[in-house]
This record gives sequence, structure tokens and C-alpha cells, in this order.
Amino acid sequence: MAKPVKTFVCSACGSVFPKWAGRCEACEAWNTLAEQEAPRTLPGGIKENSRRAGSKIEFVGLEGTSPPPPRIPTTIDEFDRVLGGGLVPASVVMVGGDPGIGKSTLLLQASAALGRAGQKVVYISGEESIDQIRMRAARLGLTKSPVQLAATTQLGDILASLAQVPDAGLVVIDSIQTMWTDSVDSAPGSVTQVRAAAFELIRAAKTQGFSLLLVGHVTKEGSLAGPRVLEHMVDVVLHFEGDRGHQFRILRGVKNRFGATDEIGVFEMTGQGLAQVTNPSALFLAERRGNVSGSAVFAGLEGSRPVLVEIQCLLSPNPGGSPRRSVIGWDSGRLSMLLAVLETRCGLKLAMNDVYLNVAGGLRVTEPAADLAVAAALISAATDVPTDPEMVYFGEIGLSGELRQVSQAELRLKEAAKLGFARAACPKRVAGGAARIAVPKTLSLVEIGHLTDLVNVVASGKNPGQKEEQA
Ligand code: TYD
Ligand code: MG
Repeated sequence: MAKPVKTFVCSACGSVFPKWAGRCEACEAWNTLAEQEAPRTLPGGIKENSRRAGSKIEFVGLEGTSPPPPRIPTTIDEFDRVLGGGLVPASVVMVGGDPGIGKSTLLLQASAALGRAGQKVVYISGEESIDQIRMRAARLGLTKSPVQLAATTQLGDILASLAQVPDAGLVVIDSIQTMWTDSVDSAPGSVTQVRAAAFELIRAAKTQGFSLLLVGHVTKEGSLAGPRVLEHMVDVVLHFEGDRGHQFRILRGVKNRFGATDEIGVFEMTGQGLAQVTNPSALFLAERRGNVSGSAVFAGLEGSRPVLVEIQCLLSPNPGGSPRRSVIGWDSGRLSMLLAVLETRCGLKLAMNDVYLNVAGGLRVTEPAADLAVAAALISAATDVPTDPEMVYFGEIGLSGELRQVSQAELRLKEAAKLGFARAACPKRVAGGAARIAVPKTLSLVEIGHLTDLVNVVASGKNPGQKEEQA
């Protein structure tokens, strides 16, 4: 018999190397390589060197009609929106997120909703006991919902039991990292185990036709724990995010083979579980206080949804040492760039200040369109003049201080008008350029060509002669 081959597997990304090294070459994580015997069998029990005689496959052209996949709505609209209209039968969805963010709560609520809608739902937890799940169900008021519960980590038992439930519509596994299969010889929780367990569950979902919802843990670095490879194996990857100090939770689509990604669903964690938030802008602006300097409202976009959020900024003098830049909810590199542009192009003196920037409500903003709002908050903080409370801001800023167009201006303007804002600071020709867009009647545009215009708008402390768009 051949000597077993040793390989080294990265516990963060799952990459395999022939030699040990202190740092994983693939994901650059330190100290994550662990020795492992190369599996004689691949995940799923396939022998490495076996090859059956293949039969001929028929090749077809690109043209053809395929109906859209059927959907099973979970009846939780915010969840369905992110999924692209509901669960697709025989598809696999992975929900990742930090511990304690509410994944189990969300999936139990979805299970109960689908159970009430007539689907056969199986919920298997490897993390909690039956009593703990029942207690949660009682708290959520879901004890009467038809859901089949089990608490186990043995994959063999799970697969054998699922085979007895041929009409299962949804199977929830909480979490994939706790599942253990004896088809591979490695420790529970190792990359090989998780990959093999996922592979076997996915195969069962595809052959039996049930939708599979997997919970996946997230590592300190923020990637789905261990097996990044799982992201490639599943059809849909969702991230459940939020700040545990806030009650808002955002379900974000990261990958979706059946729909658009970058959709978000917004929830609020209450005493009775997760409640849907149909108007996130109103929620994110609820605690805004007018007449304080260093705050500006950004007309942002999350997927296809406009979301207004407050950007807050605080400057505190730091004449000695190196000043601090602390950012929550935005990119710190982008903040440094904006500070440099404000200093060199607009002559604002910010270098002797600590800068604290915060996106209120715990939302994470990734759009460059937030530049203008951040700049407005910074200028307002530096000049100690509150921004116009009835104005929203959006626009990308270039290195020479020029304003650049951003996508979906019409949606942003509509949302601002809906929430009662009267003015929008935005790049020039937002409404008159190539894409003609409708500006809501109650909203006037303050067109900004260069960052110095914004300094004048903010520092003057009042609304400069609003320029109505000339069509
Ligand atoms: P949980 O779903 O267990 O998180 P995860 O599965 O992502 O680890 O939710 C944990 C937190 O949610 C816990 O700290 C308590 C809180 N929570 C509520 O505030 N209200 C509720 O109704 C429930 C069920 C949980
Ligand atoms: Mg949990």
C-alpha cells in the first residue's frame, strides 16, 4: 500500500499545500496551515483514482427556452427580496454572520412561516438542544407552527432520516461547521469535514428536491469560516450583518445563481424576534438631531433600494503626535483621500485634528457616492456650521476635487423627496446629462461642480440660491 501523503490545509480558506509555511499563500492568513493526511477518498466518498467508462453526452446550442425557476415564498418579504422572490426548490442557500447576530432566529422564523404555508420543514441544530430551540420558539410565538425538530451533529443519521421524508420542502442545518461525517478521517470542524458534510447534504438536496438552508460561521477576518470553498458549492450566499449594539440587521446577498446580488433585507431585532423594516430610511434617520455640526444625510443605494443614512463626523484637536482617524461603517482609505483632497484643493486645515467618522445606525456604506456627504460632514465639523437639515448629499469626489456622476440618481432623489427633504446636493448635470431623469417637484437640486462649491454651500450655513435644473 502506498504511504499516506501528508498535505497542509489552510483552516481559513481551505487551500492545500505540499509544504508547511507560516503564512497561507492563497489568503495570506498567518499560522493557519495544519497538517493533514491527503484523503484517499474525495468528499462524497468518490475514490481518487477510480474512473468509470463514460457515456456520451449530447451537446446543445445556446438558444432554447427555459422557464424561470419556481419559487417558494418564505412569506417574510425582506428575506424573499434578497433571495430574488423566494426559495428555489433543490437549491442551497448559505447564511453567514457573526455569532449572536440572529441567524438561528431568522431561520427559525422562516421555517415556521414556510411550515404554516404548507411546506414540510425539517430544522436540525448541531449547536443547541431541543429545549433551547423550543424556548426560542416560545419567545417568538411560533410553538404551534409545524416544524420537525432534531438536535444532532451526525451527518449519517441526518441523511438516513431525511431519506424517510421524501416530501421535505425545506431542510435547515444550523450550522454546517458542527456537522460531522464518518466518510472522511479528520477531526470535527476541520475544513475537510465541513466540505464533505456540505457535499453530502447538497447532493441529498439535489436528488430529493428540497431547499437546503445552511448556517455558516464567520471568522474573525469576516470571511465565511474555514471553507471559502463552500461559497462555490452553494447556489446562494447571504450575509447577515449588523452591530450587536444596534437593533438593525441587514441581510445582504453576496452570491445568487437565481437572482440579483447586492439586494438587502432590513430587519430589527426586537424582544419577539426579527421584525421586518419596510422603510429603512425612516429608521436610520429616526434619531437624527438637527442643528448640530458634523452631520449630513447621504442619499445612498443598497442594491436596488434607496436608503438615506446620516453621516456623523467629529473633529477633536490633536496638536502633538500623529492624529487619529477612526471610521465606523465606511472605508478608512477613502476617508484619508477625502481629507487630503479637502486640505490641498480647498485649503481646509484638518491635519491637526483627530477625525472620527460614523455611519449612524450601524449600516456599512460601500458606495463612492457617499463622498459628498462625508465631505459635507467634515466641512461642517471643521467650520462648526450645521448643514442644511433639509438637504441630502450624494456624489463621488475625484482627486482634483471634481464631482463625478453616480448611478441611479433618480431613485435617490425620489427617496429624499418621499422623506420630506427639500434640497439635494449632487454632481452637475445630474438631471440634464445623457440620462434624463425626473426630479421630484418638491425637491430642488444644488449642483456642485467642485468641492470648493460644497465648502461655500456648507460654510455659508444657508441654502445658496437654489439652481433649478433647466431642461
Ligand atoms: P441567535 O439567533 O441565537 O444568533 P446566531 O444564531 O446568529 O448566533 O440570536 C442571538 C441574539 O438575539 C441573542 O443575543 C438574543 C437576541 N434575541 C432577541 O433580542 N430577541 C429575540 O426574540 C431572540 C430570539 C433573540
Ligand atoms: Mg445560532
